[in-house]
Amino acid sequence: MSKVIIDCDPGIDDALALLLAASAPELEIVGVTTVSGNVPADVGAQNARKALRQAGRLDIPVYMGAMAPLQAPYTDARDTHGQDGLGESFLPEVPGAFPACSAGAFLEETLEREETAVIALGPLTNLARLFQRRPELVERIPRLVSMGGNFKSHGNCSPVAEYNYWCDPDAAQICYQAFSQAGKILEMVGLDVTRKIVLTPDRLAYMERLDPETGAFVRAITRFYMDFHWEQEGILGCVINDPLAVAYFLDPSLCRGLDRFLAVETEGLCRGQTVVDAMDFWKKQPNSRVLTQVDVRGFWRLFLSGILKGLNGRPAPDLPEEGKAVGKEEPAYEW
Ligand code: RIB
Ligand code: CA
Repeated sequence: MSKVIIDCDPGIDDALALLLAASAPELEIVGVTTVSGNVPADVGAQNARKALRQAGRLDIPVYMGAMAPLQAPYTDARDTHGQDGLGESFLPEVPGAFPACSAGAFLEETLEREETAVIALGPLTNLARLFQRRPELVERIPRLVSMGGNFKSHGNCSPVAEYNYWCDPDAAQICYQAFSQAGKILEMVGLDVTRKIVLTPDRLAYMERLDPETGAFVRAITRFYMDFHWEQEGILGCVINDPLAVAYFLDPSLCRGLDRFLAVETEGLCRGQTVVDAMDFWKKQPNSRVLTQVDVRGFWRLFLSGILKGLNGRPAPDLPEEGKAVGKEEPAYEW
C-alpha cells in the first residue's frame, strides 16, 4: 500500500482521476486537498466529494486549500470545465461540513508524521506554500507526480504553457527548485503524454455498456468538455489529462521519459513554460522526469479495469484501436 495525498482542482479530469485512485487497492489515500485552478478551491472541494461519492469513498477526507496563486492573478478554467467545474452536470451536493483544518495544515501535519507521496493534478500553490514554510518537508515526499507542463507539445492555454503551470507559474518554479535543491526528481506528466489520452464517444459508449452507473456519471460530467474540444480543436472526444498521472503513479511502466533539469518561466510572454534542458547546456543535476512516451492501450486497460464496477475485477478487454489488432501486444508507446 502506498500512502498518498491527491492535490487537485476538480475539474472534470480531476474527478475521473479521483475515481481511478479511489478504486485502487494499492493506494492508501490519506486525504484529498484542493487548490484554486479550474474552479476555486472551495468549489473544487465540493466537486471532489461528488467524485468520491460516486466511487463510494466518502471515507476519504477533503481539505480546502489556496484560493489564489502565489502572485499571478487567479484565472479559472470554467470555460473548459463549466460553471460548476463538473461540466455543468450540477450534481447534488454532498452534505456535511468540511474539516476546519486547511489543506496546507493537513499537508504539513501529515508529512511531519509520516512519509507520504503526492499526486498533484492542479496548480502547485499548496505545495509551494508548504515548501516556503517548511523546505525540509520535501524529504518526506518519496514521490511527487505532477500533471502539468509540456516538453515538445504546444501549450493548452498559451502557445507554450500548460494550464496548471501557467495558472501559478511561481508555485511551479518553487516546487522544481525545491526538488533541485534536495537532489530529487519531480515526475512531470505533461501534455506530451496526456494529450494522447482521449475519451472518445465509442469509449464512453463501451463504459456505459459495461457499467451503466459509472458510465452515466462519466457522460454527465464530460458532455460539456467534449463540446469544448470539438469547438476548440475539432477533436471528437476529450483529452483527459489527470487520470494518466494517477495511472502512471500506479504503474510507472506506462510511460517513458527523460531525467533532465527543468525551470519554469514565471512572467512575460512565455509565463508558465517548462524550459527542459534536454541538451544539458546548464550542466545542472536533473530535477525532473519529463515523460515523453505513453502506452495508450496500457492506460485504457488500467483505467477501465479500475473504474468500471461491471468488470468485477476482470481486466478490461482491449478496445480495437484504429488499424490495430485486438489482443496481447507489446506496449504501444506513442511519441
Ligand atoms: O492542463 C490540464 C490540467 O489543467 C488538468 O489538470 C486540468 O484539470 C487542469 O487542472
Ligand atoms: Ca486538474
